[in-house]
Amino acid sequence: MAARLTIRDIQKLKDAGERIAMITAYDTVSARLSEAASAPMLLVGDTLGMVVQGHASTIPVTLDQMIYHAEIVTRSTTRALIVGDMPFMTYKIDAEQALTNTARMMQGGRVSAVKLEGGENLAPTIARVVEAGIPVMAHIGLLPQSVNETSGFRVQGNDIDTARQLLRDAAAIQDAGAFAVVLELVPAPLAAIITARLHIPTIGIGAGVGCDGQVQVFHDLLGLFDAFIPKHTRRYADIGGAIQTALKAYVDDVKSSAFPTDANSFGMKDAVLDAVRRSLDADETKPNADS
Ligand code: KIV
Repeated sequence: MAARLTIRDIQKLKDAGERIAMITAYDTVSARLSEAASAPMLLVGDTLGMVVQGHASTIPVTLDQMIYHAEIVTRSTTRALIVGDMPFMTYKIDAEQALTNTARMMQGGRVSAVKLEGGENLAPTIARVVEAGIPVMAHIGLLPQSVNETSGFRVQGNDIDTARQLLRDAAAIQDAGAFAVVLELVPAPLAAIITARLHIPTIGIGAGVGCDGQVQVFHDLLGLFDAFIPKHTRRYADIGGAIQTALKAYVDDVKSSAFPTDANSFGMKDAVLDAVRRSLDADETKPNADS
């Protein structure tokens, strides 16, 4: 069996000019299917707060929940590099907190890397975590854990100041030792400039085709999440619609007794059945002991 991919293998993909397709995974089904599709990296994203837990944002997700899902995804795969997303406020207080919690994710989730949201301001923390031997994927642009501060899911870097800040963020996290960076909701031309200036891979989501790779949410790709459909996604299948049709057919079949048939049921020997019937008849004809 081929060994699990490493951050060095991911760097080689950028160096060879090969595009990197990353998919989020939260459980054994999404992990196995995504790995079978040859995705080299899977992200156990805190988007599970929305697509699995039904929250309106990623903020309620806890570290224990992320570790629980990360361990399932790691155990369900053999080849893909698994990145565990660090949830809200588990690494922002100081570097000590980040070290303690990223170590918990590595040990409990058995992931190969962690993902932290933040740019220049977070660079010293990223440097400490990387120094401790924990590979970090950074995440800049729209930061879902800061949606309350940025007032929603908006494209970032649209003016000269914020565009230049994103360039500084990208340089700082690379200097801090991050092995890759997610660019979320960044104008495509700016994402292409950032990609050209970095030697580490950029993984875009709503950042155009000029990034080294793309990451998409499993449920969005497959039409499993209807609360909203982001502009940056493409539905490759309507699995949600197919599931709905199948479940409705099952409910209708139960109501009409079309399910189960003999093919889904278990018989018994006639002799045993006769014996059961005779014993019931005998019980019914026996005088009641109480009367
Ligand atoms: O949590 C997540 O799934 C993410 C991706 C959307 C990049 O951070």
